[in-house]
Formats: sequence, C-alpha cells, structure tokens
Amino acid sequence: MGMKTLVLGLVALRCVYAKDSVSFDFDTYGKDDASGAPYQTFKSNADVKPPQMQINKNETGLADGLVFVGVDGAPTSGQNWPTIWDFSPDRLGTLVWTGNYTEPFDFRTQTYKGEPVLTFWSGELLDGYGHGSYYILNQSYAEIAHFSAVGYEELSDLHEFTITSDDTALVIIYTPKQADLSDVGGEKDGWIFDCIFQEIDIASGKLVFEWNASTHVGVNETVNELGDAGSEGSPFDYFHMNSVLKDANGEYLISGRVMDAVFKISSSGDIIWRLGGKQSDFDVADEAVFAFQHDARWVDGNQTRMTIFDNGPTDAVGYSRGLLFAVDQDAKTVSLIHEFYNGAKTFAKFEGSLQVLDPSSSDTNYFLGYGNQPFLAEFSSNGTLLLDAQFGATNTVNGYRTYKLPWTGKPITTPDIHLDTDAHTAYVSWNGATEVQWWDVYSANATNGTWRYAASANRTGFETSVELGGVSLGTYLRAKAVNGSGGALGWSRATDGKGLFDASGDVDEKRNNTSSSSTVSTTARATGSSATVAAATSATSGLAVRIGRGMVEKVVVAVVVVALV
Ligand SMILES: *[C@@H]1O[C@H](CO)[C@@H](O)[C@H](O)[C@H]1NC(C)=O
Ligand SMILES: *[C@@H]1O[C@H](CO)[C@@H](O)[C@H](O)[C@H]1NC(C)=O
Ligand SMILES: *[C@@H]1O[C@H](CO)[C@@H](O)[C@H](O)[C@H]1NC(C)=O
Ligand SMILES: *[C@@H]1O[C@H](CO)[C@@H](O)[C@H](O)[C@H]1NC(C)=O
Ligand SMILES: *[C@@H]1O[C@H](CO)[C@@H](O)[C@H](O)[C@H]1NC(C)=O
Ligand SMILES: *[C@@H]1O[C@H](CO)[C@@H](O)[C@H](O)[C@H]1NC(C)=O
Ligand SMILES: *[C@@H]1O[C@H](CO)[C@@H](O)[C@H](O)[C@H]1NC(C)=O
Repeated sequence: MGMKTLVLGLVALRCVYAKDSVSFDFDTYGKDDASGAPYQTFKSNADVKPPQMQINKNETGLADGLVFVGVDGAPTSGQNWPTIWDFSPDRLGTLVWTGNYTEPFDFRTQTYKGEPVLTFWSGELLDGYGHGSYYILNQSYAEIAHFSAVGYEELSDLHEFTITSDDTALVIIYTPKQADLSDVGGEKDGWIFDCIFQEIDIASGKLVFEWNASTHVGVNETVNELGDAGSEGSPFDYFHMNSVLKDANGEYLISGRVMDAVFKISSSGDIIWRLGGKQSDFDVADEAVFAFQHDARWVDGNQTRMTIFDNGPTDAVGYSRGLLFAVDQDAKTVSLIHEFYNGAKTFAKFEGSLQVLDPSSSDTNYFLGYGNQPFLAEFSSNGTLLLDAQFGATNTVNGYRTYKLPWTGKPITTPDIHLDTDAHTAYVSWNGATEVQWWDVYSANATNGTWRYAASANRTGFETSVELGGVSLGTYLRAKAVNGSGGALGWSRATDGKGLFDASGDVDEKRNNTSSSSTVSTTARATGSSATVAAATSATSGLAVRIGRGMVEKVVVAVVVVALV
C-alpha cells in the first residue's frame, strides 16, 4: 500500500467512526436533561453541582483510592470543574471534592516537595489544544504553586502536567511555525503547529530542558489530513503531542497522536526510536497496532511494559481500548499483553487514559478513562471489568484523563450544615474532607450556650442527613465532624434553620439526650448505611457500633454511662 493510500485510508476510517461516534447508550441516563449531563445539588452546600455518577456495573475487588475526574465541556450545571469521587462500597459514586477551576485537564494527585498535592491545568480550551496555566494545591486545597510555560506564558497547553522526582514539571506548548507543506499537498511556505515540551524547575521557574517536534520529525510522517489548515491563522496540526514523561535515565517518552507513534528522546534531544507510525523502529504485532493514541507510559523502571490509550479506529478495531504492551527494546518488538474496554465498547474519538494502579504488582487493577466520552472503568489484572461508570450521557461532557489514587483531604474551610425543621433533619457536608467517619450533632439554646449531644450519623457520601425525629433540641444546631478514632476534625457554624451563626460556648460531650427513639439498628450503623442514629439508643447497639469503629475507650465508657441512665 502506497503512502498516500495509507494516509487516506486512515483518515477515511476515522471519519466513518467519528460520524458514528455514539457508543452504546446505557438506559436512559441523561435523557431528561437538556445537555445530557445530569447533576447533583446539596442542601448544606449550594455552591457545588457535580455530575450525577451512573454506575453501570460494580463488582467486588476494586482497588483502594479515590477517583479524579476533571469535568470538561459544557455540563448543564455550568461547573466544568475538577472533581474527586469515592467508589468504596458504602459510598460508591459519591463526590468528595470539587473546586472552582474552569476546564481542568490532567487532574490528579502527585508528589511535590515530598508532599501529596493536587495538580491540574486550567484555562481556555481551543480546537484540540489550550491556553491556560498549571496549578498545584496542597492537602487543604490551597494553591501553593501556579505557573506557565517558560517563554510561552500565553501558550501553556493542557495535555500534560507531570511532576518528576526532581520537582520539575513536564508541560507542552502548541506554537505556530512556518513549514514546507508540499509533502502533504500544501504550500511550500505554509504553517504548522510545532509541539514543544519543556521541563521546568517549578520552584525557581527555570527552564531545565526543551525539545520541539519540528526539528526532529518531518511533516511527511503525519497521518493527519491537511484539509483547510496550513495558514498562519490556522496552522496544520501535524504532530499533536499529548503525553510526556521522563525516566530515571533522563530520557523522555512522548506521544504524537497524529503520528500514530510513541517516541523515545535522549537527554540531548535525539530520537532514540519511534514505536508505531510510518517510520516505526519496532515490529508491532497485529493485535497491538494502535491509532490516534493518548497517554503513553512505562509501567515501571524496567521499561519492559508500556500502557497507552488507543483511541483508534485502526483497520481492525473500531472501539477505543486501553493497551498493555510487552516492549522489547533490544529485539524491537511490541506484543499485546491485555486490552481493556468497557461494557459498551465505547469509541472515544479523542483524549483518554490507562492507569496501572499498582505497578509493583502483577496482580494489579487497571483504570481506564474514556477522555471525550464520559465513561470510566476499572479492571482486574486479567482484564475482567469490575467497575463501569459514566458521568454524562454519551457525547456530552469530557474527562481528559481519569485516575484512581490515594488522597487525604484536610480542608481549611468549616463544615457546612443545613437544618430542615419541618423534616426534622440536619444535612451536613464538608467539601474535600476525606477523614470524616461520622457526624455528631449538638444543640443549644444560644449560640454561646452549652452544646449538648443530640444525634449522630455515619458519613454516607458528600452530604449526610442526620435524622432528628424524636430528639429534643434547643434553638440552635451544630455539627461535629469525627474521624475513625473519635477525634473532632471540625465544627460547622450554628443554625436555627433560617440562618448561620458563629458559635462558641461549652460542649457537653455526654450522650444525655433523653429521647428514647432509636431510628436505626446496629447493623445499619455499623455498615455505614444511610440510616441514622438518634441519641440514647440501647446499650448494646451503641457499644457494638462504637467498638466496631475503633473509638477510644473514653467514648465507649460514655456510651455505657448514657445507657445506664
Ligand atoms: C467561580 O469563580 C468565578 C471567578 O472567580 C466566580 O465569578 C463564580 O461566581 C464562582 N462560582 C462559584 C459557584 O463559586
Ligand atoms: C453495586 O452492586 C451491589 C451488588 O450488586 C448493588 O446492591 C448496589 O446497588 C450497586 N451500587 C450502585 C451504586 O449501583
Ligand atoms: C496549605 O496551604 C495553606 C496556605 O498556605 C496553609 O494554611 C495550610 O496549612 C496548608 N495545608 C497543608 C496540609 O499543608
Ligand atoms: C526548536 O528547536 C531548535 C533546536 O533545538 C531551535 O533552534 C528552535 O528555535 C526551536 N523552535 C521553537 C519554536 O522552539
Ligand atoms: C520524510 O522525509 C525524510 C527526509 O527526506 C526521509 O528521510 C523520511 O524517510 C521521510 N519519511 C517518510 C515517512 O516519508
Ligand atoms: C523488573 O522486572 C522484574 C520481573 O519482570 C521484577 O521482578 C522487578 O521488580 C522489576 N523492576 C522494577 C524496577 O520494576
Ligand atoms: C479473572 O479475575 C477474576 C477476579 O478479578 C476472576 O473472577 C476470574 O475468574 C479471572 N478469569 C480468568 C480467566 O482467569
């Protein structure tokens, strides 16, 4: 097959699938919503409106960690914000945190200066690239760094924000450059988008390394079609760099989407090899052939296995896949170990990611994000689908890459509370707090009065409702967020059901509410169901629960005392 036929073949195939890019639509999710992106609202916090997560499949065996989704596109809620989700069995698909940063890309946790941090790009999304900047938040969700590409401040692109073990950042820039386009049927004095990657020392802002595609890779290697592009106002996107990482040898691995290739770059900038594409140095096994890929990563320091998100389509495969490759850099061969795809065999035309959740284990789970399609999935090591979820209807909102990672959030805000006096229910939440095991609610007759224990409820998700029927209350209510060992993490302001007030005064920790109405059984409380516990439940239920939760002895004793009263 001649070069031209190959190019046209790929482009034609891509168009066919692009037109039909409707992956399977589960149920009627999103159909009632004008934009197909249903969202949630909460009584205690009116500022956050995350997507409604739909679970299409959930099996046991999910890995630990929280799920990171930068919601992009135009959700009905208007909140294309970074979001963190809990997929533990008791809180499957519930929000942990969201924050006001528009159009986040590559949202995840990384390590910076030895601390766990949140990192992402935020800015303006253009046609396949972006103009924005890079943010680092600490565990309290406070910004501790905010920077741009060096010398291209306005052109800081969205595709990559990786922090290396040297606390440098790897980022990408799309910049117009004059180029000869005659190889693709264009003008001799045409224009391309050059793709540059930079390694930047974050603390000093100094440039450590810079590499650009145009110096090393010819326009004749692209599989993209020129179309109407090629002018200064509309440069030809001939390379489309969309991932960069640096290994322990100081060499870089980059992905060129419309090259259908992954490149290894030496520390002096030379191309060591091309994997895939028109000038592949590797023999790629038929079932491992990929196209328009994203997110090329080594699994570990061995560099014997690599993962990519294969958007496709290829001649053989019409759906998108996460691919785990065996790569032999000496023999120059690539074979397929596993492919990963969801129940719908979704085709995601652009964006996407595959994450190895525990690179040190052969028994690791894998996490797949479908990029421009609002789907995510988790798999066991043999490729069995364990979790299949979506955060919008097909072809609505996006999530550039999704990750599952450990994270402890300790917000510096105070918890939020809303009291519905008619429903005898308090609603409590704390955006980003991961350590809250349950909520204790206290009441007082004055905001500076004595706060007496009223009721408790296990944290059930972003917002927990605390049932107050049958509990005798004062005028005001406050909630205390409690961690797994019984320690107070924070207090909400006080509410009388109409307004919020600063509160002070003594706290009477005794479970001295006289109500005898127990609204819940021991099992419900101990398993963390959405049911709630009023004060002064029976001795056995109170004890069983407290011990089960590993509370300090002192508190267990307090419960016994209450029970004896
Ligand atoms: C988000 O931030 C923007 C800009 O600061 C502000 O105008 C907007 O009101 C904020 N939205 C919410 C829901 O906090
Ligand atoms: C997860 O699966 C369990 C067991 O099949 C089911 O009871 C539960 O409702 C599912 N959770 C969600 C959120 O779909
Ligand atoms: C995060 O930074 C803020 C502002 O500098 C600081 O108040 C807070 O203590 C920091 N949180 C953590 C966990 O380091
Ligand atoms: C690309 O790299 C070459 C050589 O390293 C350099 O001369 C050129 O200025 C760079 N171009 C851009 C647009 O950065
Ligand atoms: C592109 O052009 C370069 C320089 O002429 C040549 O070495 C290379 O083989 C060409 N590649 C393709 C795919 O045509
Ligand atoms: C390299 O691979 C071997 C086996 O394939 C494994 O035992 C070892 O832990 C790996 N080393 C690294 C650094 O990942
Ligand atoms: C794959 O792993 C799952 C557990 O995650 C197990 O139930 C299943 O039997 C395994 N399948 C094969 C073919 O080994």
